[in-house]
Amino acid sequence: MTTENNVHLKFTDGTKTISVPAGTTILEAANAAGVRLVSQCTIGTCGTCVGRVACGDLVMPEGRVYSLRQDEMAAGHRLLCQSHAFAESEVELDYPAAMLDEYPVIVTAAKVGAVTWLGESVVELQLKLPKSVRFSFRAGQYVRMRVPGTDEWRSYSMASGERERKKLAFTIRVLPSGAMSDYLRTAAAVGDQIDLEGPIGGFGLADDPGPSLMIAGGTGLAPMLSMLETLQTARTDFPIRLVFGCTRAADLFHLDELDARRSFMRNLGVRVVVDEPGNELAPVPDVLTGNPVSVLTPEDVAHPQTSAYLCGPPAMLQGAEVRLLELGMPAERIHAEQFLPS
Ligand code: FES
Repeated sequence: MTTENNVHLKFTDGTKTISVPAGTTILEAANAAGVRLVSQCTIGTCGTCVGRVACGDLVMPEGRVYSLRQDEMAAGHRLLCQSHAFAESEVELDYPAAMLDEYPVIVTAAKVGAVTWLGESVVELQLKLPKSVRFSFRAGQYVRMRVPGTDEWRSYSMASGERERKKLAFTIRVLPSGAMSDYLRTAAAVGDQIDLEGPIGGFGLADDPGPSLMIAGGTGLAPMLSMLETLQTARTDFPIRLVFGCTRAADLFHLDELDARRSFMRNLGVRVVVDEPGNELAPVPDVLTGNPVSVLTPEDVAHPQTSAYLCGPPAMLQGAEVRLLELGMPAERIHAEQFLPS
C-alpha cells in the first residue's frame, strides 16, 4: 500500500484534490488541506459526511455501527469521517464547495416565537434569532437544537425559506415520549431559550435546472417546503411534483399550505398519500391510499433532467431509491436526507 493517495472531491461546483496519508480519514485530510466538507458528529453516526465513490477504493473499518445501509454501501456511498483511501479515488459530493463558505455554521441562543399544533401529532416550532446574529442557510439544510432543560440535542430541517434569516420554522413530529416531544407537549412556551447550531448538511436543490420530484414522508415535508420557496422565487417553469405521505390520515398536516402553494405555483403538482386511510379519510377526499413510493409513475422521471429529492424515514428512502432506479433515474440525480433515530 502506498503511504498516501490522491482523492478527488467532486463538488457540484468543481473538483478539489487532496492527498490522504495512510491512517488518516478523508475528512481529516480535507481539514488539514483547508478543504471544507459537510460533517457533524465525526464518529460515523449522523450520516452528514456521505459521499459516493465514483472510482477508486475508500474503506470504512469493519466491526462498527454506521448510519449507512448495506444497499447504500453497495452503491458506493461512504462516510468520509470514517473512510481511508486505499487507491487514488474520486468521490462525488451532493453540494457545492462554495456552500460552506456562504453558509457558515454558527452557535447561538434562539427564542421560541410560536408553538403551533398543525394536527394531532405535529407541531410547528418557530424560533427567533438574535438581531446581532448573521445566519444564512441553503434550503434543505438543518440545524441541531438543544432541548430546553436537558443536554439532549435534536436535528430538524428548516421548513421556512432561505430568505427568512431571523425567524426559522420547523415541523416536528410529537411522539408519545422523547426529550423534544415531552418538551413540546408539556412545557414549550413563547420566549423559551433554545440553543441552536447550524446550518448543517448538504441536502438541497441541484444546480442544474430541470423538473423536480420531491418525495416526503411525514415531517420530511419540512425541507421540501423550504426548497419550494426557493423554486418559487426562481420562477422556474419546469414541473415540480411533490409526493407527501403519512401512515395515517390523522398524521397529515399542512394540507391547506400545500393547496395555497398549488394556487400560486401553477407548475406544482401535489399528491398526498396515506397507508391506512381508515374512516378518517372522509375529510380529505384528495388523499390517495398507498405510500409515497407506490404512487410513483414512469411519467415522474420521464424528463432526463429531472432531479429527485427524498426526505423521510430510512425505509421510505430505501424504497424510493430502488423504485427511482428501476424507473431509469440515474443515481446521481437522486438526493436524499434521512431521518435517523435520536
Ligand atoms: Fe457524522 Fe461522518 S460526520 S457520520
